[in-house]
Amino acid sequence: MAEELTPENPDTETPETEEAPIKTRKNGLYPGVSDELAENMKSGWADTELHGLEPIAQASHTADRRAALSAAFPGERLVIPAGNLKTRSNDTEYAFRASTEYTYLTGDQTQDGVLVLEPRPRGAAGHNATIYLLPRSNRENGEFWLDGQGELWVGRRHSLAEAEQLLGIPAKDVRELAAALKVAPGPVRNVRGHDAGIEAALTDKVTAERDEELRVRLSEARAVKDAFEIGELQKAVDSTVRGFEDVVRILDKAEATSERYIEGTFFLRARVEGNDIGYGSICAAGPHATTLHWVRNNGDVRRGELLLLDAGVETHTLYTADVTRTLPIDGRYNEIQRKIYDAVYASQEAGIAAVRPGAKYRDFHDASQRVLAEKLVEWGLLEGPVARVLELGLQRRWTLHGTGHMLGLDVHDCAAARTEAYVDGTLEPGMCLTVEPGLYFQADDLTVPEEYRGIGVRIEDDILVTEDGNRNLSAGLPRQADEVEAWMAELLKQV
Ligand code: GLY
Ligand code: MN
Ligand code: MN
Repeated sequence: MAEELTPENPDTETPETEEAPIKTRKNGLYPGVSDELAENMKSGWADTELHGLEPIAQASHTADRRAALSAAFPGERLVIPAGNLKTRSNDTEYAFRASTEYTYLTGDQTQDGVLVLEPRPRGAAGHNATIYLLPRSNRENGEFWLDGQGELWVGRRHSLAEAEQLLGIPAKDVRELAAALKVAPGPVRNVRGHDAGIEAALTDKVTAERDEELRVRLSEARAVKDAFEIGELQKAVDSTVRGFEDVVRILDKAEATSERYIEGTFFLRARVEGNDIGYGSICAAGPHATTLHWVRNNGDVRRGELLLLDAGVETHTLYTADVTRTLPIDGRYNEIQRKIYDAVYASQEAGIAAVRPGAKYRDFHDASQRVLAEKLVEWGLLEGPVARVLELGLQRRWTLHGTGHMLGLDVHDCAAARTEAYVDGTLEPGMCLTVEPGLYFQADDLTVPEEYRGIGVRIEDDILVTEDGNRNLSAGLPRQADEVEAWMAELLKQV
């Protein structure tokens, strides 16, 4: 990457402007810019303003979401930041990912953006929304080519007028927001954890409890997905299916290298078709499959062992899939692998069957766990009766985690929701959740026969609650063992 201009000599000229001199993001004024060059750079640029832009596809949905939030907090100013770049090392940053709350309410993903819902004046009901963004770079004062956030360095931004057309929200310059918030009267709440500058401006005006209520509300609001969101989740899953197919086709290359080849292959699909991966891909071969969040992905890939691949593409609009398949690396499950796989499959079938409107959220977990407990008793790993095993939770030595979670903009979506609205709640049409039972026999678990040790199996699908039951969004990937083998054989034929 090119380096930004740095001060060779802090006393040399700076661009002459009426306003404050341009500063680098780092530490100084830009030197070595002659008056002639500064003057030259001001002009000779075409007007590229875009007119008559169509609103983004989700604009009417984001308006509905803002209206629902407005109704929940009458008379209060609500501040929802996108967040800022985070330093990775020195002057390099992690890829920016806008906050879920901001994306949900605006459809925008611009770093440093802030949505403000301002109570309407004179006691009128509702709020006026304004989105605060960094405008196009000024060419007169040189910021477009001299500032670290200048468009010449980071790319063209939308003008505020363009953003208004796209998002359907009036837009203002974000550089004026913090000072305005500091002096604005009246009650205010902020979504914390995204923008330290905004938090500093509001520090005397907010409380942790009231801010948390805003976050909880936004988390619960996302439980039922609208038509746009369901379409995006299906896109995320469809790209994920293609990513899994990609991985099967390169298993020989992974054998020759490591789990990293699998990680990189899936990532390629995610970056080409979507925004990114929705979470760190778990590419766990052999005994690594028994580590629930194995993301180091630096192990060997060996024939005769299983690959547990848990990965999801995140769409350009930031909705993610979350899918797991446990595949035989050589294309055929051996006897013990298949025995464990079939048990997990039966558990998942029971779990998916329990997903329907009106069911308690916990029902699918209970149904899946019951099947696994029955198998563990049948295999002699636990002493029955099954009811006692379940009551004491003894199966959990090998089932380890909950059977699923809400899915959406976050892989573990709605995570701030209250217990009564989530795990103690009831399923409704439009909710989307994973059903992902697993069995994990650690390599050093002396309580199971040796042949079980080092085997981990999880099967995870993304299930939409419909009016009359459910729809498996990830049905494009086979789950039943024979079907997995046939699917792999077909893909490997094409290599
Ligand atoms: N990929 C993390 C999970 O399945 O919840
Ligand atoms: Mn999951
Ligand atoms: Mn997963």
